[in-house]
Amino acid sequence: MLNIALPKGRLGAAVHRLFEAAGYGCGEIEADNRKLVFENPVNDVRCFLVKPSDVAVFVERGAADIGAVGKDILIENSPDVYELLDLKLGKCRMAVAAKSDFREDTGRPLRVATKFVHIANDYYASRNRDVEITKLSGSVELAPILGISDVIVDIVETGATLRENDLKVLTEFMEISARLIANKTSFKFKQNVIQDIARKISAQIS
Ligand code: PRP
Repeated sequence: MLNIALPKGRLGAAVHRLFEAAGYGCGEIEADNRKLVFENPVNDVRCFLVKPSDVAVFVERGAADIGAVGKDILIENSPDVYELLDLKLGKCRMAVAAKSDFREDTGRPLRVATKFVHIANDYYASRNRDVEITKLSGSVELAPILGISDVIVDIVETGATLRENDLKVLTEFMEISARLIANKTSFKFKQNVIQDIARKISAQIS
């Protein structure tokens, strides 16, 4: 049996459609919104729906053989997995954003709020800019609004969240999209099926 970790939500549904078209779908995963495991005895595939940021954990630990995860998570957490394919879905950018009237004071460390501590650290280290980073788990846009940071480092997709909170992009510095990843041991022992999936999905998206 092949185990697939999919991110819950819109991205997971879009990725599942790619698997389905490749002949490796798990049935009606969008129909039941509390069920987390979907099994298809016909093609011997089982799908798990997990939090997007946890997909690589399940794959790295071998609970799932393959999965779909954002490049942002791969860069931030450096999981020990193979990255097989750019799925060209979930496209967005990593950006620095601030309140629309923000003026930087270069005489002191920049206060940065983010879910992506490593990415933010690396970005500012490469620019020799001292920072004080506050890690948040969500609603990062609130940090500059409520004065606990000067800027945020976060994902921008449509830009709606920034616009609706009177924030502006200062710079975009990383392109992001979903990637197909594989557990390293699974890739060795289930190579045929995993490569068949990667090939069939690749044919759909290129
Ligand atoms: C992400 C990101 C932004 C938003 C960007 O948040 O952190 O807040 O999406 O998308 P947009 O440019 O299309 O508005 P998510 O939806 O994951 O929620 P969170 O705040 O709980 O992390």
